This record gives sequence, C-alpha cells and structure tokens, in this order.
Amino acid sequence: MAKLFIPVILGTGRRGRNSEPAAQFGHQLVEQAGANTEFVDVRDSARTTTLVDWMDNASDTDAWVETASRADGFIIVTPEYNNFFPCELKIFLDQTLKPYRRKPAGLAGVSSGNWGGTRVVEELRVLTSRLGMVPVQPPAYFPNIESLFDDDGKPTNTELVEHTQPMIDEVLWYAQALKSAREAQ
Ligand SMILES: Cc1cc2nc3c(=O)[nH]c(=O)nc-3n(C[C@H](O)[C@H](O)[C@H](O)COP(=O)(O)O)c2cc1C
Repeated sequence: MAKLFIPVILGTGRRGRNSEPAAQFGHQLVEQAGANTEFVDVRDSARTTTLVDWMDNASDTDAWVETASRADGFIIVTPEYNNFFPCELKIFLDQTLKPYRRKPAGLAGVSSGNWGGTRVVEELRVLTSRLGMVPVQPPAYFPNIESLFDDDGKPTNTELVEHTQPMIDEVLWYAQALKSAREAQ
C-alpha cells in the first residue's frame, strides 16, 4: 500500500513566532507514524494580498498547489490572534481549492495562555470545512507555548505526545479511508 502524504502547515509568518516548535513536533509525529510528510511554512510564500481569481484553481506551477494536489490530508498548526487565525494562513490556503476536497484536516491551536488556541481551532474548523476538507476530531492544543518546548525543540511536558497523537491518528485514518473512496470512484 502506498504511503500516505500529509503535509504539516505552520500558519503564522510572525517575526519571533513561538509556534514553530509545535508545528515541527507535529511533523515528527506524522513521520514516526510512518507517513510521508513535508513541513510547509506560510512565511515562504507570504503575501499581503490574495492573488487568484474567484474559483481559480491557481497555476499548476505553484509549489503549494502541487503539494496540496499530492496530499492525502493536512495538518494545520496555527496560533490564535484575537481569537482568529493569522491572515497569511487564509491567503495561503486561498491559493487553491480543488486539491483540498474530500481530504482530512487535523487542527492544532497554539497560544501563550492556558487554552492552547481553543477559539482559533473552532474558526479553523469552519474554514477547512468551507474549503472542502474534512476537519477531524479531536484537535490538538499547545498551551503555554513559551515554555512547552526546550531550546532543542523537545517537549517539556511528558504528556504532549499522548495529547497530540489522537489528532494525528485520526487524520491518518480518514486519509486512508477517503483516499480509498476517491480512488474507487
Ligand atoms: C496579534 C496577536 C494577537 C493575539 N491574540 C491572542 C488571542 O486572541 N488569544 C490568545 O490566547 N493568545 C493571543 N496572542 C498570543 C499568542 O498566543 C502568542 O503570540 C503565542 O506565542 C503564539 O503565537 P506566535 O507563534 O505568534 O508566537 C496574540 C498574539 C498576537 C501577536
């Protein structure tokens, strides 16, 4: 059976961002689960305006469109900014539409406080659903992000794998099931 391909998106381009180790951690867990993955940083294609036309599926030379087309599912790790996701994440995802359809999305929120981005996850559930993805339950949360990882990117909380793994496992389950269903059509 072909390996699943699940890119992990870091949803903020903010200078001095603390979310990066959380996204790297998710990326490692996907790898350890035996899937192919890629770390996708919205900063690499940061744009201040939306470029595509309405319902455009973007040029097939765009790196993200190509990656999203090959993906069997997505994991999105994003901080909460005023209870919402960073605009660069929305502009990034709006580059295309069709490659998202009928593929699972694992949602992960990050915050400096105790809640780990619970509100941004609910907003992201609405957005990913509108994009045609299937947002899975449960999400993952990365609270107190400033002290959640050490300088080497290792979790300081021994329960972090246990808290994050269910989201990864669910994405992989849906990725396999929906891939089989798409291929059977
Ligand atoms: C513009 C802005 C708005 C923020 N709004 C929230 C918020 O609504 N809720 C929250 O828990 N944290 C909020 N934070 C703090 C983030 O949780 C904090 O920056 C954390 O380190 C994660 O984001 P980062 O990757 O940008 O560092 C905000 C931070 C910024 C820069």
